[in-house]
Amino acid sequence: MSEPTGPRELTGLRALVTGGASGIGLATARLLAERGAAVAVLDRGTGGLPDDLPKELLGFTADVTDDAAVRAAVTAAAEALGGLDLLVNNAGIGAAGTVEDNPDEQWHQVLDVNVLGIVRTSRAALPYLRASAHAAVVNTCSIAATAGLPQRALYSASKGAVLSLTLAMAADHIREGIRVNCVNPGTADTPWISRLLDSADDPAAERAALMARQPHGRLVSAEEVAAAIAYLLSPAAGSVTGTALAVDGGMQGLRLRPPSGN
Ligand SMILES: NC(=O)c1ccc[n+]([C@@H]2O[C@H](COP(=O)([O-])OP(=O)(O)OC[C@H]3O[C@@H](n4cnc5c(N)ncnc54)[C@H](O)[C@@H]3O)[C@@H](O)[C@H]2O)c1
Repeated sequence: MSEPTGPRELTGLRALVTGGASGIGLATARLLAERGAAVAVLDRGTGGLPDDLPKELLGFTADVTDDAAVRAAVTAAAEALGGLDLLVNNAGIGAAGTVEDNPDEQWHQVLDVNVLGIVRTSRAALPYLRASAHAAVVNTCSIAATAGLPQRALYSASKGAVLSLTLAMAADHIREGIRVNCVNPGTADTPWISRLLDSADDPAAERAALMARQPHGRLVSAEEVAAAIAYLLSPAAGSVTGTALAVDGGMQGLRLRPPSGN
């Protein structure tokens, strides 16, 4: 019997999305709800959730660096949803600089959010995922895990750890029926990148440079990353685990000649 696919393929499944109040996480939460899932978002919640979220979408406040807060929020979300099948570990922060530039405190902070945040949410969610008949986890990784980008030493190290953690988690939990994958977005047009552009000397030139870096000549949209996450979570991906799905306009895999060549 083939697995259900189509616009409501996540009906009956319960999802938790971290960093779900903005950007890729918000687009993912919306899409999962559209596809029929019951969805909770976990965010540090300083800005609150936007008003136009699907009304069934539940918000829980926790900072992923606070283990007790994460455990409480994951438990509350699972109780409100009646269980948990799908987990999107998406909360993350950036850092710029070479290996000379970031103080130890910043290294600890970024690794605490980007890597240990996934550890905390996942271990709080695992008892619920084990009880699910269709359990899947997607971690938001990055092109920075697989390509050397200038001025991203700390951020890249954190996302390299996310990639390895994804593989290790996939191995540890496959026999419990839990699939674990990650998505590797290229530069995506989210509030994060808007903040980055706002702080550049010449925002228009910086945007043009980021667009030109991606072979398809534009930024990735949050909705495109959400669609990849939704696929990896869906029953249609039942045989997919331990993979990194690039959503980067060809940035990782392609080597083009300059535009004048062919
Ligand atoms: N935008 C890009 O170009 C890009 C590219 C590759 C990977 N990513 C990854 O995508 C993920 C989402 O990024 P985005 O671009 O949507 O950024 P964003 O800033 O728009 O959203 C990130 C969300 O995470 C939340 N968050 C941050 N720290 C948190 C914490 N300690 N506890 C709880 N929530 C926290 C924020 O409040 C925010 O709502 C990140 O993991 C990022 O590394 C982004």
